[in-house]
Amino acid sequence: MSKITFSAPDLSATEILRNANKNAVSDIIILESTDSTNIFAKKLTADGALHNTVVIANTQTAGHGRYGRSFFSPSDTGLYMSIVQKPDSISIPPSLLTIAAGVAVCRTVSRFCPETPQIKWVNDIFLNKRKVCGILAEAGSSSQGLDYIIAGIGLNVSTKSENFPKELKEVAGSITTQTSRSCLAADIINELDILTTQTGTKELIDEYKSLSLVLGKEVTFCKNGTEYEGIASDINLEGSLVVTLRDKTLLTVRSGEISLGSLNFI
Ligand code: BTN
Repeated sequence: MSKITFSAPDLSATEILRNANKNAVSDIIILESTDSTNIFAKKLTADGALHNTVVIANTQTAGHGRYGRSFFSPSDTGLYMSIVQKPDSISIPPSLLTIAAGVAVCRTVSRFCPETPQIKWVNDIFLNKRKVCGILAEAGSSSQGLDYIIAGIGLNVSTKSENFPKELKEVAGSITTQTSRSCLAADIINELDILTTQTGTKELIDEYKSLSLVLGKEVTFCKNGTEYEGIASDINLEGSLVVTLRDKTLLTVRSGEISLGSLNFI
């Protein structure tokens, strides 16, 4: 283990390692501050970072989500974590890592919080109608093919609603728990390791579907420049959303973003 540079009473490498399953962490780095743990982890892969290298920051100055959006990452009250995944070391398709990370976070949140989390396809986790977690999986390839995927997880643990910036006040929230960030991190790491090495694709998708906030609901989305409206009817084994349009045509949405009533943002 190397480069442990930060610890707080509720966030320390020692506690995470004490709670992590064997082989679920190969190396752990905890930083007081970095631009983005995904960017930091990406740099580590250039130096040969192993599968299950974990990078956590107490705060991020340029935490980001999909479409280059910023991810609000205040000090002390969130878990900002990136886990390096090597395609050869996982048994699920790498394209399902966002889905696996979403299920891992929901298992942890359900274990340590009184409320039930739900996932807005594909990468947002909601609790009490507020987004409490975002997931960003970023892949890197070389001439040999896919080299690594970084599973980036940003969980609002105890950020108070008055401390979110104005544009997030009505939409973002935090989980309710007395559990330390170390325990939450170790539990998510353990669940992700189980889901990526011991769980079949169908089992993973079935659990993801059971956590879905969108299935059976009316959604709108844009595909190839056209706007569509329909009912989210399934999530297939590739993790794509299947939408039944008004005329009963089925449309498969592989990536992008859907809008669902008022939950269509961040
Ligand atoms: C989203 O909301 O679209 C995804 C947000 C992902 C945020 C996490 S925080 C840890 C890691 N570092 C980043 O810069 N992003 C991810």
